[in-house]
Amino acid sequence: MSPFFSFILPALFLSFLISTHLANGQNLINETCETVARRDPNVGYNFCTTSLQAAPATQCASLRGLGMISIRLVRHNVTDTRCYIKHLLKNRTRDPLSEQYLKDCFELFSDAISSVKQAMKYYKSKRYDDANIQISSVMDAATTCEDGFNEREGLVSPLTKRNRNTFQLSAVVLSIMHEIQK
Ligand SMILES: *[C@@H]1O[C@H](CO)[C@@H](O)[C@H](O)[C@H]1NC(C)=O
Ligand SMILES: *[C@@H]1O[C@H](CO)[C@@H](O)[C@H](O)[C@H]1NC(C)=O
Ligand SMILES: *[C@@H]1O[C@H](CO)[C@@H](O)[C@H](O)[C@H]1NC(C)=O
Repeated sequence: MSPFFSFILPALFLSFLISTHLANGQNLINETCETVARRDPNVGYNFCTTSLQAAPATQCASLRGLGMISIRLVRHNVTDTRCYIKHLLKNRTRDPLSEQYLKDCFELFSDAISSVKQAMKYYKSKRYDDANIQISSVMDAATTCEDGFNEREGLVSPLTKRNRNTFQLSAVVLSIMHEIQK
């Protein structure tokens, strides 16, 4: 056999396999995000695809795998936000009222970290209803945190974008679990 056939062809075949596999992975992300966006008007299709594509290994994941990956995204997000709030609280020049709301948010996000860890355990053991309750409480935490700042005129939430990310990522998780349970 010439080197061409013994080497190039298998290589071509392999790259074909890999690219169709990648396309399938992309398809699953696209399809999943279409379903998510249709089901929940709070979640943008682009937000969903961008978030999932950026995460490692999503191209090869099954729907159940995508669910786990998106729970991890929520976990990273809430952990990072809690750290960010801690950083904001170190700034003593902030006005006291804003500080009180930040402290509330800190508590909320601390609880949210426990909730998302618990959700991961439930998800792994396919207890989707229990995982749903935990993820919903993460969404509530983000909403409650954001609403606090809106209660007072003149206060501007420094966490709007983060709260929105947490909320939307959690909604992606809920949607995926809904699909899995169908
Ligand atoms: C998935 O959607 C993106 C845009 O959101 C598009 O560029 C891509 O071609 C789609 N992929 C598949 C396999 O449908
Ligand atoms: C939180 O989620 C958003 C949306 O996917 C992403 O852009 C951001 O980088 C995430 N932050 C962390 C710390 O994971
Ligand atoms: C501290 O907070 C004040 C008021 O919100 C802000 O103007 C200032 O830039 C902050 N300083 C730091 C180091 O973040």
